[in-house]
Amino acid sequence: MPMQNHANDHTGMKLRAAERALELVEPGMTLGLGSGSTATIWIKLLGEKVRNHGLKIQAIASSDDSEALGKSYGIPFVTFEAVRSLDLTVDGADEIAPGLALIKGGGGKLLREKIVASASKRFVIVADDSKVVAKLGRFPLPVEVIPMSAPLVTEELKKIGFAPKTRVHQDGTRYITDEGNLILDCTGLLMDNPVEIAHKLDSIVGVVEHGLFLKMATSAIIASEQGIIERSS
Ligand code: 5RP
Repeated sequence: MPMQNHANDHTGMKLRAAERALELVEPGMTLGLGSGSTATIWIKLLGEKVRNHGLKIQAIASSDDSEALGKSYGIPFVTFEAVRSLDLTVDGADEIAPGLALIKGGGGKLLREKIVASASKRFVIVADDSKVVAKLGRFPLPVEVIPMSAPLVTEELKKIGFAPKTRVHQDGTRYITDEGNLILDCTGLLMDNPVEIAHKLDSIVGVVEHGLFLKMATSAIIASEQGIIERSS
């Protein structure tokens, strides 16, 4: 799967953030499982608690990959037919700006991630400190679009000031999301006012969802070489 890779591998820091987030889990919770490398570490830690220590929780995943991983540990899954809200979701982020404004979707899972986050009482971000920025936009903002609308949406995104590029696999074939859509990765705009940008994106016909997660995260657990910082909204 193509990922918009960050320059360094920060596995140790990701692990420490994930370990801290695991402390938030209580028996009986319904959990949202995020996607990406940091969320994957958290799912593995959670899965070990379920498999080896009999922790009783249930979950909804934000991607097919995360659900398959959770199932491999015996985590029971439910759907929004059965539950309407989640006690806690833990997920990664591509950029974390002041106010816990986020860019997500580097792994292409932004649509389900946003659905899961929107249903969560607590939406906790786990990340290493390379994700912290003063302004959103250096990381390409993913915009998920209905395939037939891609040329039209591309024109609209250019009017906002973005340089959109259709996400492709290494062999050049187009990346298709879990829901069968395309991703346009948008560069070229450091966002002074992400709320305004989000409104513009929301109003483009053919846009299914975008990777701006604003006023959604309740806290962020950010690991650095110096230790862990926790930010709350
Ligand atoms: C996937 C995501 C990820 O949470 C985001 O890309 C961060 O991933 P990682 O923890 O691998 O840096 O939004 O769509």
